[in-house]
Amino acid sequence: MTPTLLTNSRNGRTNHLPFGEKRDGPLFNQHILSVKQFAHHDLEQIFAVADEMRMMVERVGSFDLLKGKVLAVLFYEPSTRTSSSFIAAIQRLGGSVIPINEVKYSSVAKGESLPDTIRTLEAYADVIVLRHPETGAAELAAKYARKPIINAGDGVGEHPTQALLDLFTILKERGKIDGATVTMLGDLKYGRTVHSLARLLSLYNVKLNYVAPDLLKMPRELVQELHARYIAQSETNSLEEVLGETDVLYVTRVQKERFANLDEYEAVKNSYVITPEILARAKSDMVLMHPLPRVGEISEAVDSDPRAAYFRQVEYGMYVRMALLAMVLGKA
Ligand code: CP
Repeated sequence: MTPTLLTNSRNGRTNHLPFGEKRDGPLFNQHILSVKQFAHHDLEQIFAVADEMRMMVERVGSFDLLKGKVLAVLFYEPSTRTSSSFIAAIQRLGGSVIPINEVKYSSVAKGESLPDTIRTLEAYADVIVLRHPETGAAELAAKYARKPIINAGDGVGEHPTQALLDLFTILKERGKIDGATVTMLGDLKYGRTVHSLARLLSLYNVKLNYVAPDLLKMPRELVQELHARYIAQSETNSLEEVLGETDVLYVTRVQKERFANLDEYEAVKNSYVITPEILARAKSDMVLMHPLPRVGEISEAVDSDPRAAYFRQVEYGMYVRMALLAMVLGKA
């Protein structure tokens, strides 16, 4: 990662540090906008800190590493996991939160711009987590911000913290990432989680299979980007073709909210459903993942299968987000 200290783009001032803050670390005082900013060794550090966070939570529940720090959670789109896990993360680290989970009850409803909202919240908070329906919104926010912005999903663009927790899940469930054949299934066109995860996986020795209806194929530019990085990739409409070789099956929801034409959504919404019968033909140690929420693409009958990792994935997410907050705020 190219380390860039945050500066106020308007006056070029560098943030000042309270006494006692550590200045080193790959994420200190940085925005988290895209997985493209991470190198392999950054991931190792994040995952090592996440492991420590997990150990501490198991031992003591919460502790005061970020006592006195304030997180603003600014969500222009619905969320359960991302917003709650960031709130749980800052609270378990002894900090506090300004939750704006529903912008219609904020001054956004009166027409306040994103830059003005960011410049207001950073007067109160040390770090801002932002979810927005427009691709590039987090980057725009970062241009105006003196405090770190964490992208919690920008339209069909990226969801970098989800990809980090997905990768951490693969590591914890399999013991390693290298050598894995990862099959991504469902909405690969609009799915920001798969866009970010595919990019992060390209830092490892993996094979990627993309299984989607023609309407929802992985964007060409992303396939080309990974091709240029010598990542083995294959595309098909048929899960059966690749199920037997799959080590990690990453299922995604077909996102109704992304379709301009609802007839197109209706045509593809039930393209794939993972059932116990399908799992019976998969590897016995395959890891079944989903960023959630699911709306029928994984049958509930699968939940009791030990390969179903999606609720463990949710928990791993909190440890990764604890690690990110601690590192961004210079305490890890
Ligand atoms: N995975 C995820 O982003 O879930 P939420 O939309 O509930 O935050």
